[in-house]
Amino acid sequence: MVAPAYWMFAGIYDRVVERLGYRDPEFAVEALLAAAPSIDGPVLDLGCGTGLAAERLLAHVDVPVDGIDASARMLNVARRKGRYRHLFHADIALPLPVAPGTYAGAICSGLFTHAHVGAEALHPSLDALAPGGVFAFTVYAPVWRSGGFETALRGLRAEGRISVVSTVERRHFSRLAPQKVQVVAVRVN
Ligand SMILES: C[S@@+](CC[C@H](N)C(=O)[O-])C[C@H]1O[C@@H](n2cnc3c(N)ncnc32)[C@H](O)[C@@H]1O
Repeated sequence: MVAPAYWMFAGIYDRVVERLGYRDPEFAVEALLAAAPSIDGPVLDLGCGTGLAAERLLAHVDVPVDGIDASARMLNVARRKGRYRHLFHADIALPLPVAPGTYAGAICSGLFTHAHVGAEALHPSLDALAPGGVFAFTVYAPVWRSGGFETALRGLRAEGRISVVSTVERRHFSRLAPQKVQVVAVRVN
């Protein structure tokens, strides 16, 4: 659980990531809207942090956005921006505090990475989506295999639970060494 680190970081998070050229929120939103261009139902932002992904999403579509995060301080910053319909203080690797099957879309940026959350969080995230709903997320490339994402997605596809809409490799921080993220969009069948 990394929430204590974000307790210290919340007040400067937006400025720091902007300086680094962090673009995961934009990538997740682009992948969601490419897979679901006429989305008109609610969207769940998993590990929403200070709300960077909601800001980008709401620049394109007018839908209710709910957020979940394990750090109360990150949630406080998000709350002050006034973009979310509901915010939940919860761990996304556990059953989520939202009704199953209710969201048209879900996004998760920057959370599937070292020392954060592994592929075990894919199941609760997918449970939140209605059939046909799209989940768009970024996975830091070094944990794509070691964090179990490749195997979990293959299994979910083989079970017929999801269809993979897109996987694209992008640059994680435009102003740092060229680390990569996988940007993935899946549709719940
Ligand atoms: C790198 S930040 C990304 C925040 C936001 N999605 C963005 O792209 O700017 C990671 C966020 O995940 C949250 N987090 C870490 N572990 C979590 C967990 N198990 N459940 C929910 N949130 C978690 C942290 O509190 C932090 O706000």
